[in-house]
Amino acid sequence: MKKEDLSVAVFDSGLGGVSVLKELLRELPNENFIYYGDTANAPYGVKNADEVRALTFSVYEKMRERGIKAFVIACNTATSVSVAQLREKYPEDIIVGVEPALKPAVLCREQPTVAVLATPLTLKEEKFASLLGRFSGNAKVIPFACPGLVEFVERGEVTGDGLQAFLEQLLEPLKREKLDAVVLGCTHYPFVKEEIAKILGADVLIFDGSLGTARETKRRLEVSGILSARKEQGTVIFLDSSYPNIENPEKSNLTRFGGDYLCK
Ligand code: DGL
Repeated sequence: MKKEDLSVAVFDSGLGGVSVLKELLRELPNENFIYYGDTANAPYGVKNADEVRALTFSVYEKMRERGIKAFVIACNTATSVSVAQLREKYPEDIIVGVEPALKPAVLCREQPTVAVLATPLTLKEEKFASLLGRFSGNAKVIPFACPGLVEFVERGEVTGDGLQAFLEQLLEPLKREKLDAVVLGCTHYPFVKEEIAKILGADVLIFDGSLGTARETKRRLEVSGILSARKEQGTVIFLDSSYPNIENPEKSNLTRFGGDYLCK
């Protein structure tokens, strides 16, 4: 198969990367995608760096063996602990990461106060310290870990009283700050963006890195001359480590329901 006809793989610990996939589908409607959610090992953000790096390498190598033209790490946590090492090991490959959209957020006002919501591991890593060093400028930046929030999104609880109560308590310290902007530094958080806005107030600007990541992916494919020449809409295959036989549903614990698969 010609390289341009191969798929772009999109990877996250679970469902969060779908927020990036959504933008990729807009930017690259003719590409084929394989979405890989490592839900069997989610959440990543409360694990240690070595563990998350090993999981990321294992998914990458699986995808690479299958034959892909680019790998999008649609996970801030996995990016922060493994993108540099992956690129070092596979210098010829297109590997795109995602990072908190601090750069546009600090430009929203003269001397803004900006909170970066992310997983504990993302905020602990050197990559985040370097992002702060490069882009904080005149802003007051508040790194804010949100352990437990990913689990709400993973179980599909993206509205409702339980989530509101959790967010109220979690974000309480931020209500005392005069926030100008919030950066969603975890790809799961865009799914609860409206709920976060309800607590922090509608005038707080909310940024996330999905569109930037999708545009960067497009740019890299363009530069390498491997954009698909397909005229029709591309396809998306969803793979999930909790259902390793998803491509062979007869052997898995999934049953077909319309176009979707449900747990038996
Ligand atoms: N979606 C991932 C991120 O962007 C992390 C979720 C997790 O903790 O597994 O950081």
